[in-house]
Amino acid sequence: RVTALIAGAIGKDGYRHYMEKELHEHPVVIGQTLQRLIDPATRRVVLPDLPFDMASVPRAVITACGSAFYAGMIGRYWLESVARIPVDIDVASEMRYRDPPLTPGGMGLLISQSGETADTLAALRGMRAHRQHIVSVLNVEQSTMARESDVVLGTAAGPEISVASTKAFTAQLSVLACLAIAAGRQRGVVSPDQEQALVASLLDLPSRAGEVFDQADAIRRMAAVIAGARDVLYLGRGSSFPVALEGALKLKEVSYIHAEAYAAGEMKHGPISLIDQTVPIVATVPSGRLFEKTLSNLQEARARGGRLLVFTDTQGAERLRGIAEIVVAIPTVDEFTAPVLQTIPVQMLAYEVALLKGTDVDQPRNLAKSVTVE
Ligand code: AGP
Repeated sequence: RVTALIAGAIGKDGYRHYMEKELHEHPVVIGQTLQRLIDPATRRVVLPDLPFDMASVPRAVITACGSAFYAGMIGRYWLESVARIPVDIDVASEMRYRDPPLTPGGMGLLISQSGETADTLAALRGMRAHRQHIVSVLNVEQSTMARESDVVLGTAAGPEISVASTKAFTAQLSVLACLAIAAGRQRGVVSPDQEQALVASLLDLPSRAGEVFDQADAIRRMAAVIAGARDVLYLGRGSSFPVALEGALKLKEVSYIHAEAYAAGEMKHGPISLIDQTVPIVATVPSGRLFEKTLSNLQEARARGGRLLVFTDTQGAERLRGIAEIVVAIPTVDEFTAPVLQTIPVQMLAYEVALLKGTDVDQPRNLAKSVTVE
């Protein structure tokens, strides 16, 4: 009923579906979320007061479900690489029963659009029992998880009506990137100059995100290849691997086509036997230190008949010409922010396939917006 009320209040603004509307809100939502966490004058990250000293946190444990979990996986890369914090991560439905031995004083980092997901809430309570500092990244700030957290880092995504989460994902990433930078500063591993450079990349995101929509035609051509497939393989490395996972989940959710995401380096350990000309391969491959490695994985897949549909950037597009069937080159700024920008076209692809399949995009079969029961 609340969703219906909110939906009635905000409407689709002329878009065909809430998912389409919310996809187009990525740039604004990224900007609004960053605005709350970055001081425009000093261009430094300013978090809400934390009731603990980030410099003395022995490790972080990240847990969430579904898309929020994939955002957490990207957050893990950043907390490890920028803030040098050891991180454990698991989906909440596993974490809550693993009951891992946690050192008191660690940071429990939970991510949820709704703040009501049963498994994530149960994991939160388990972490509190182990005397972790509970930090929640939430879109609905008046939620059960908000009431049970020590700190809430809000995502300014606004109401997300479509069951398939889109804009909340990049808002979660915006918060996680700022958290990693602030933690790195407090732990003495991010210098003022490094912070300025990382923040500058983040502040560039809203305008770059807007440029992604210029690639709509190429994305629709990718959708035409996928719409007729029975199985689709998504590949990525490093912080692009969770983007591949998110892309596969979105495709399954809204188009009902089976899709699997793999760390590109894992292909030779089995999955490569899946590949023939009936299996489209979607890859998220920003230029950078993992590009060449991933390119060789793609060439192996192509040699087995795989049809390569690749999201990269302008530099990467040059190297992929003649190798990939369709290339979408998005304007990434650098490796740090690439996952945020790569997410948008990968989600758009799922939406375009769903349109071709004629499914109920905003209310896919068997799904609820918030899984409040186990
Ligand atoms: C994402 O498109 C799905 N609707 C689902 O995986 C969702 O992300 C998951 O259920 C977690 O929901 P939450 O963010 O509200 O906790």
